[in-house]
Amino acid sequence: MSTPNTDILVHTEAGISTITFNRVDKKNSITTTMYATLADLFEAAATDSAVRVVVLQGDVAVFSAGNDIGDFLANPPSTLDAPVFRLLRAVATFPKPLLAAVCGPAVGIGTTLLFHCDLVYAGDNAAFSMPFVNLGLCPEAGSSLLVPQMLGYHRAAEALLLGEPFFAEAALEVGLVNRVVPPTECNAVAQAQARKLAAKPLSALVETKRLLKLGLTSAVLERMAQEGQSFVRMLSEPAAREAFSAFMEKRRPDFQAF
Ligand code: COA
Repeated sequence: MSTPNTDILVHTEAGISTITFNRVDKKNSITTTMYATLADLFEAAATDSAVRVVVLQGDVAVFSAGNDIGDFLANPPSTLDAPVFRLLRAVATFPKPLLAAVCGPAVGIGTTLLFHCDLVYAGDNAAFSMPFVNLGLCPEAGSSLLVPQMLGYHRAAEALLLGEPFFAEAALEVGLVNRVVPPTECNAVAQAQARKLAAKPLSALVETKRLLKLGLTSAVLERMAQEGQSFVRMLSEPAAREAFSAFMEKRRPDFQAF
């Protein structure tokens, strides 16, 4: 198993901090330790004058399979101070441009994080899903507010109640992604856009982003807190425990009793 230090890679150069999910053997699923590392990175990048733009990327075949399900069983977040919630607040309030390059599956928080990014580039193999209900859970990351806002209520209900994946072209159509490119070009496209942003006056970027999100950020933080309380409670309820056990045991969950 890879160490926490190598599960998240960070490289900062010419004002661009590139954060890479690097746990490919587990489909870049995210552990508590990784959330803590990510939260620290975003909190530091917000005030680090060496960082003008952040790019979040995964592998050419997988962005992220979302929360590590073994961790949900063994080490679930129990308060809103948990690293996952700290990361979500850091991303939702991140003042500088945030870009993502997404190839392959982006599951759960792998998709909901994108609603907090300013620019998103997707490989044509990208598959977005928010299967919270299938896991006995509810939306997080402000997605119960942001997904209907972007997709419209009925498509949001489809995405969040059925939890089935939607693909790059559909994400482009609703405006979740800016451009669809061949997977092998995705990271380079995001870097090229990041270089353009890094050359602009940071004060103007920060003020423009603040105004774009004026009124929204406080509503998102409030919704995230409400979602977080439900999410923490539901993690220990029988439906979720059955879903997590079924995933670990590589069997279909049985929700008949719930
Ligand atoms: N948590 C923990 N382990 C995970 C994981 C997750 N979220 N997603 C994948 N893995 C592990 C698998 O258990 C498997 O481990 P193993 O090799 O030790 O058996 C390995 O990563 C490869 O996963 P696999 O399912 O075989 O890959 P795939 O290419 O067939 O499917 C996904 C990829 C992402 C579609 C699938 O792994 C998946 O649906 N994962 C769960 C997503 C999820 O529900 N996340 C929680 C959202 S809140």
